[in-house]
Amino acid sequence: MRGRDFISIADLSPDELRVVLATASRLKRDGYPNALAGQTIALIFEKPSLRTRVSFDVAMQRLGGHTVYLPQSEVGLGQREPVADVARVLSRYVHGIVARTYAHETLIALAEHADVPIINALSDESHPCQALADVLTIQEKKGTLEGVRIAYIGDGNNVAVSLAQAAAMAGAHFTIASPSGYRLPEDVMIQAEELAVASGGSFRTATSPQDAVRDTDVVYTDVWTSMGQEDSYERRLQAFKDYQVTPELVQLAKNDAIVMHDLPAHRGEEIVDEVIEGPQSVVFDQAENRLHAQAAILLLLLGEASE
Ligand code: CP
Ligand code: NVA
Repeated sequence: MRGRDFISIADLSPDELRVVLATASRLKRDGYPNALAGQTIALIFEKPSLRTRVSFDVAMQRLGGHTVYLPQSEVGLGQREPVADVARVLSRYVHGIVARTYAHETLIALAEHADVPIINALSDESHPCQALADVLTIQEKKGTLEGVRIAYIGDGNNVAVSLAQAAAMAGAHFTIASPSGYRLPEDVMIQAEELAVASGGSFRTATSPQDAVRDTDVVYTDVWTSMGQEDSYERRLQAFKDYQVTPELVQLAKNDAIVMHDLPAHRGEEIVDEVIEGPQSVVFDQAENRLHAQAAILLLLLGEASE
């Protein structure tokens, strides 16, 4: 995987996904080698972040490397100068670029013009680093991904896209319940179905949140209004009002089901306090795993001995 971009879960083969997860587990268990000493990555963020920014920063430091944080106010991606120029200039200074953008096309343009790996730190289309941490967490909690039932309740957004791809690729049974108008993009559903057929998993759209969570191992939700969608906040509150993750909904899942959320959560909207603070919630283990999953990606893309 050395030298490659990581823009989408679909950039990985099923075997590569297994290698990433195994590498992340090993780093978490055995500690981080000083493998990226002398290397620097740029962190370009057009949107706010806690987990992604800090976990990339810390992962790079623990692997012996450095980071340069470039908020949009500083770099002016596509405003102060063209995306292509930013990509070509940064390629002369750093060994990799982690970028969080509004338009997915911005990431594609960075990848087209940079000579160093580009890592998607969330775009309006997908959030592959989150999905790696998610499936790592499910594997830890359930012992496997194959045959595990995952129910996603809510918006067919960036987080849902990457999770559907990762779950389908890993042999899990993925079910999603979204109100009409907020479903996963058609091409993502087709792709997830194909990946699931190849892995022995499955992909299904449910008719209601209740239908989705019945006998599931994992209940997953994300915000109804993502960053950049604030103008449609009121409309979304209406559209998603029956999609809240409540104790009654979680009750329909298996007794040992886990509850997941990528955070930040809008408590009282997509999930209630009692559930996110309850004994089935694994949201902070999930947040921790951002660090290990991304350290694995950095090691595999930038390290000397690619696995
Ligand atoms: N889950 C996630 O990506 O969090 P941040 O937006 O804080 O990075
Ligand atoms: N769907 C959310 C995820 C935040 C980590 C957003 O894009 O705002």
